[in-house]
Amino acid sequence: MEKQIKAVLFDLDGVIVFTDRYHYLGWKKLADEHGWAFDEEVNNGCRGVPRMESLEVILRHNGVELPEAEKEELATRKNAYYVELLKDINEEDVYPGAVEFLKKIRATGVKTGLCSSSKNAPLVLESLGLSDYFDAVVTGADIKNAKPDPEIFLLGAEWVGVAPENCVVFEDAPSGVAGALAAGMACVGVGSPELLTEAPVTITDYSTIDIDALLNNQLTGSPV
Ligand code: G6P
Ligand code: MG
Repeated sequence: MEKQIKAVLFDLDGVIVFTDRYHYLGWKKLADEHGWAFDEEVNNGCRGVPRMESLEVILRHNGVELPEAEKEELATRKNAYYVELLKDINEEDVYPGAVEFLKKIRATGVKTGLCSSSKNAPLVLESLGLSDYFDAVVTGADIKNAKPDPEIFLLGAEWVGVAPENCVVFEDAPSGVAGALAAGMACVGVGSPELLTEAPVTITDYSTIDIDALLNNQLTGSPV
């Protein structure tokens, strides 16, 4: 019988690669320079959120208001820190089991796409030799409306040539889960069900995924 799922769309940061750690360090350096409070909890609010919006999250947390030009400069500076940190990225930063999972999915003939808000996504994929695992790569540079808007996922579906209802999204951020569901797609949360309360199912280990159940859109529970 034909499977319902014909494409798997992945977020990047925190789903394929632990770049969320490097994003954290980049923001932390910027925050420390200004004496702003920034911790893991504030960082969670920056997950899946574009660069400028992430800065707003940090400024709001500290009750700081700045002119637009200064915010642009700060976001550019954080990105320079992030890109510098990316020089150290290596295969230990790849989510365990993610590459094997991508290989298995692609071997079934199902399309794979990357839908990341990060404008650095192509650089990260190239640095780790992961570019060839995706039929399409959509980034923050290709869209107008960031997650939780469904735009990035709808464009990903279009680029891999699959209807939204035949796609499943893997996401680690609440905004991404909301975007996937708004796109009319199935969604698997990567991380804890406590953080991803809207995700119909969550995983923390790719090797636990029953691929047949996933492609039949029948993945249930929260396998650990
Ligand atoms: C991802 C990350 C966010 C980051 C955003 C923009 O969604 O989860 O933490 O702010 O990408 O990344 P960029 O590399 O373009 O600054
Ligand atoms: Mg993410």
